[in-house]
Amino acid sequence: MTDAPTPYQRTLAFHQATKHHPDRYARSPGYMDWANQPNPFRSWADCETMALPFIEKDPPGGHLELYTRSSGKPAPLALATVAGFLELSLGLSAWKAAGDSRWALRINPSSGNLHPTEGYLILPAMEGIEAGIYHYDPLNHRLERRARMPESIGTTIAGHFKTGGFMVALTSIFWRESWKYGERAFRYCQHDVGHALAALGFSAALQGWQLTVLGDLADSALASLLGLDQTDWPRLEAEHPDLAAWVHPAADRVQVKNLPGELVAALGNLAFTGRPNRLSPTPVDWEIIKDVADATAKPPTQTPVPDLPVSNPVRTPSSALTGAGIIRQRRSASAFDPDGSMDVSVLEAILDKTLARSGCAPFNAGIGPPSIDLVLFVHRVNGLTPGLYALDRGTSTAAPLKTTMKSEFAWEAASSRLPFYLLEPGDLRHTAIELSCHQPIAGFGIFSLAMMARFERCIKEAPYRYRHLFWEAGMIGQILYLEAEAHGFRGTGIGCYFDDAVHDLLGIDTLAWQSLYHFTVGVAKEDLRLTTYPPYHHLERE
Ligand SMILES: Cc1cc2nc3c(=O)[nH]c(=O)nc-3n(C[C@H](O)[C@H](O)[C@H](O)COP(=O)(O)O)c2cc1C
Repeated sequence: MTDAPTPYQRTLAFHQATKHHPDRYARSPGYMDWANQPNPFRSWADCETMALPFIEKDPPGGHLELYTRSSGKPAPLALATVAGFLELSLGLSAWKAAGDSRWALRINPSSGNLHPTEGYLILPAMEGIEAGIYHYDPLNHRLERRARMPESIGTTIAGHFKTGGFMVALTSIFWRESWKYGERAFRYCQHDVGHALAALGFSAALQGWQLTVLGDLADSALASLLGLDQTDWPRLEAEHPDLAAWVHPAADRVQVKNLPGELVAALGNLAFTGRPNRLSPTPVDWEIIKDVADATAKPPTQTPVPDLPVSNPVRTPSSALTGAGIIRQRRSASAFDPDGSMDVSVLEAILDKTLARSGCAPFNAGIGPPSIDLVLFVHRVNGLTPGLYALDRGTSTAAPLKTTMKSEFAWEAASSRLPFYLLEPGDLRHTAIELSCHQPIAGFGIFSLAMMARFERCIKEAPYRYRHLFWEAGMIGQILYLEAEAHGFRGTGIGCYFDDAVHDLLGIDTLAWQSLYHFTVGVAKEDLRLTTYPPYHHLERE
């Protein structure tokens, strides 16, 4: 009799099975079953709803205040500021139309615009709203109350964290992504959590708040306190718990990353109401997703999160846009001008923001030490030889990326401002396109990059960290999206790439490091066939 595979082995099996290869893509339907397309908006019937006010005047912070507020008091906790926090993180950003089709875009991006991520708030009583557990409905910019909460629980929670605030939580509906992407969809759902977490962090920073992720909490506790385990879900459309964070004034340092068992029980025992809408007529069961979700479920932990390094972000060149303006205008480019270029100082300013530093969003949320370095395909940066480069994001480890990749790489210092190195000069435009499932955006952009994660040890120690690696990658992606906009460029996340072909190029033949996400930045070519409408033009109360 053979032993049942361990969670680590199951996680690894999923990872290997969901790699794309030039001659064999990961298993997926291979076509779009339009009649079965999942609704991108979850709504809850039979529960009270509350329309949220729209922002009347954007928060004043400039570009760099997305990362840390330089002055001023934190915004007071009130319905209007909480609504603004949601509008600038998980709200709609625009509608697009082509012919008879119309679709909404959001402040947070999502692979294929399928949006598997749902947001929840656990709010104490504040003026204009009762204490309770609420689902955020971005389509209507409103809250749906799943449970009333006695005010005393709100007071106990604030006492536990020793600061005022509220809780935000994220969940995923895997079917929304697997409808199009099949088995690889689980990865994209995790990327999207990372994007959403960073979007929440940036929006919080503009209010003078920050997120502290409750990293010790088990998934089962999160499911309980959000009432997910008390819900009668439509088949294959259940929400999977991802994370919860305490949102609090940025100046208040929050040390606890857990909730006491009695509080979890008190929240889990509330009377949850509401019926989730059905998203598709006949969802399809991708069994390996259920298996990897189970293998990477997070147990309760007590993991100290090390302090991040203290240093100031690179301030030049800076952007004249406001932080909120940058957030609102973020979009993915579907095509780039192949002649576009940027100065090396802009590239440095962009890459600098991906470094995790103390007191700076989004990594001040505390999801753990940096585990991802960047390998760049630099195509047209004025002042830099085209070629392969690496950015060391401070992933200290016994087996650094440098010793895992080809020994011929030069590792020649390429910046006085950043730990940025030239590995090998060369024209990599065609290589980048080929590696990215033949997508021209990877070669027509000014640069593209691979996010290389310290992989095997991380998931061997704790398989749930598999999901966190994708979250970290998604957070880096969100930074790159906003930084591209800040400097007059545009970015696009790239989830479709040939995993092992990337590893071969870099000379990686073990699982010590794996490429988990790609990204590209360039001068966008607008798609003139599309018409754009304002985000909430469909609501009378706009
Ligand atoms: C995790 C992730 C992977 C993505 N992969 C690709 C990709 O391989 N190719 C592509 O053209 N766009 C890709 N995108 C861009 C999405 O299609 C885009 O975010 C979505 O259509 C929503 O549009 P918006 O970003 O303008 O809001 C990806 C986005 C994310 C978040």
